[in-house]
Amino acid sequence: MPPCGIARPDPLPETLESPDVSEQIRFFVPGPTHVAREVLEAQVRPMIGHRSPEFKALYASLEPRLRQVFRTAGDVLLATSSSTLVMESAAISTVVSDVLNLTCGAFSERWHQIFLSAGRDADRVAVPWGQAVDPELVRQALRRKRYEAVTVTHNETSTGVLNPLAEIAAVVREESDALVLVDAVSSLAGARLEADEWGLDLVIAGTQKALSVPPGLVCFTFSERAAERAAKLPLRGFYTDLLRYRDKHRAGGTVTTPAVATVSALDRQLDRILEEGMEARWQRHLDLQATTAAWAADRGFTYPAPVPARSPTVSCLKPPAGIAAPGLVAGLAERGFTVGGGYGSWKPETFRIGHMGEVRPADLESLLAAIDSLV
Ligand SMILES: Cc1ncc(COP(=O)(O)O)c(C=O)c1O
Repeated sequence: MPPCGIARPDPLPETLESPDVSEQIRFFVPGPTHVAREVLEAQVRPMIGHRSPEFKALYASLEPRLRQVFRTAGDVLLATSSSTLVMESAAISTVVSDVLNLTCGAFSERWHQIFLSAGRDADRVAVPWGQAVDPELVRQALRRKRYEAVTVTHNETSTGVLNPLAEIAAVVREESDALVLVDAVSSLAGARLEADEWGLDLVIAGTQKALSVPPGLVCFTFSERAAERAAKLPLRGFYTDLLRYRDKHRAGGTVTTPAVATVSALDRQLDRILEEGMEARWQRHLDLQATTAAWAADRGFTYPAPVPARSPTVSCLKPPAGIAAPGLVAGLAERGFTVGGGYGSWKPETFRIGHMGEVRPADLESLLAAIDSLV
């Protein structure tokens, strides 16, 4: 114990000492995800002021690359927070009264809780956990009542379900003038998402999932339509005012002090993502999902999600009879592998493999071999 009485953390783990090429990923939590060593190292630079010319140049350089990731020609903004704050900001900044929340698991239900706690009238199209939302149910709901916005969770991380976002957004556009507010927290840069082509008004992604940057930043789009709605709301809070973010962004900066070191990590990682290419990155995630599914089918592990709804970024699996999911998670930890446990009430029955971000086929194979050694 040093003289001041404060215990120092343990030294950096061995994996940070090893070169990138031999960096075997053993961390398969569905967020935060493994971050490449060179991206971690990008954070270790002398601090710069966030109003300095140096930071302004760095900040300005992000948007052209983020636009390629979100597939938009519009604004892509940055918040220093976790994703939930931007979800809450969307509720406060864009909706006066009526919203329709599409729910199918814990994170899509979070949208509903957020709108209720902001005092909005929130209705739901709710499907059982493990199912994807059927666009036709959305159509029926929109024909019953007018809504200012519809919330969609692209990838429901709690159940490993990818919702048919393009189809849902098309239905919303056909049937109404509601804004399409999208949680893409665990899909962006891991599953195809086309913000402009699909007509999405707000797309939110935390840096700690398939973007493979440490937690602390949220990247999000904000359409002209959403900005026009926001302008009509008299009280949008301060930290929750997305129009303020947009205006400050257009002036070349952030509203409050950003997580400067994490911005440097994002800068480095965006280059890596675009070097791989969006199509190749999406395909790698689909391949990881297919490998997991083939392995699972062979061993009697089952997916609660039906085939077309299975997420390319996270597999939620039920072990065969006689194998307890929490025991499996603990056994893997003893072998140096970290996977996600089941979420909420699904904890005793399921576990989750986050195969998103930088995970490569060989990394996944070694995890699956470790599971084989346990069952
Ligand atoms: C789909 C989804 N939405 C929202 C969140 C909340 O993100 P945060 O913890 O960054 O607020 C998560 C976190 O796991 C998520 O997976």
